[in-house]
Amino acid sequence: MQPAVFPVVALESHALVDSGAGEKLERYGDRLLRRPDPQAVWSRRLDERAWARADLVFVRESDRGGRWEGPGARGGAPEWTIPVLGAVARIRPTPFKHLGLFPEQAPNWRLVEDLRPRFEGRPRLLNLFGYSGLASVLAARVGYEATHVDASRAALAWTRENQALSGLPDNALRVVLEDALQFARREARRGARYEVVLLDPPHYGRGPKGEVWRFEERIAELVEAVRELLADRSLVVLSTYAIGCSPLTFRNLLAELGPGRVEAGELALSEEDGGRLLPCGFCARHLRGLEP
Ligand SMILES: C[S@@+](CC[C@H](N)C(=O)[O-])C[C@H]1O[C@@H](n2cnc3c(N)ncnc32)[C@H](O)[C@@H]1O
Repeated sequence: MQPAVFPVVALESHALVDSGAGEKLERYGDRLLRRPDPQAVWSRRLDERAWARADLVFVRESDRGGRWEGPGARGGAPEWTIPVLGAVARIRPTPFKHLGLFPEQAPNWRLVEDLRPRFEGRPRLLNLFGYSGLASVLAARVGYEATHVDASRAALAWTRENQALSGLPDNALRVVLEDALQFARREARRGARYEVVLLDPPHYGRGPKGEVWRFEERIAELVEAVRELLADRSLVVLSTYAIGCSPLTFRNLLAELGPGRVEAGELALSEEDGGRLLPCGFCARHLRGLEP
């Protein structure tokens, strides 16, 4: 019996080169990056010489973050762009180990694109906890009216950057600085409807007015608010990383959205040589009126 894993979608500009001994080695465009990954407790396939070729290495300084070292970090904070499924993403290594792109989300981006012809007119997509905006940009490119919500000004600026780099006009996205739960509730009160809702919450976060987001305490309320927002035919995607609940929990949560089909499992990246899978979080999808 194998754990359920959403099929990995390969990206032209990203590869998981190796993993093990608490780290992962990845290629983003033409740069090799090495950073901690608590899931990678197994042995590496490649020797230290291969790992030592990394341009950028994340060095943890505390529980909250660290710094990037290596030849690629000399001469100031590095940043570059890579193509992603027809869009362009700015890669910017942050002190929180993030780069502005979660390539394990590619199966969800692809699903949103594949479902586009199944909706009539111009479908609406709501991306809560939208971060640097790739999901919103990719959706807008294929014809969704995308609303992108995040509590961080920096994340919204990054989204605007990815939007422009991807050749979208200024008005292609509705970008909102707000607490995700407050926004969902307000939209429900206004009678707004969405064909697609994407939820990629962190374990802990804060809204722009200090609203506290704790996954276990708030997720049920958020799912309840999202339920009010759904069009007759709809897709909801919930994903998270590093949370102590399982895909079964996710499935049970999304079952509360009402009639429809729920899929649940893990998101993963596949090593380029050999295909060993690195777990990257849990995910569930609720599809209504969109069954094949
Ligand atoms: C980076 S994504 C999470 C991706 C992935 N699931 C993880 O945990 O690493 C989290 C985004 O949610 C935003 N965020 C945190 N709390 C929020 C809140 N209360 N309302 C809206 N956005 C919030 C952050 O600014 C960030 O851009």
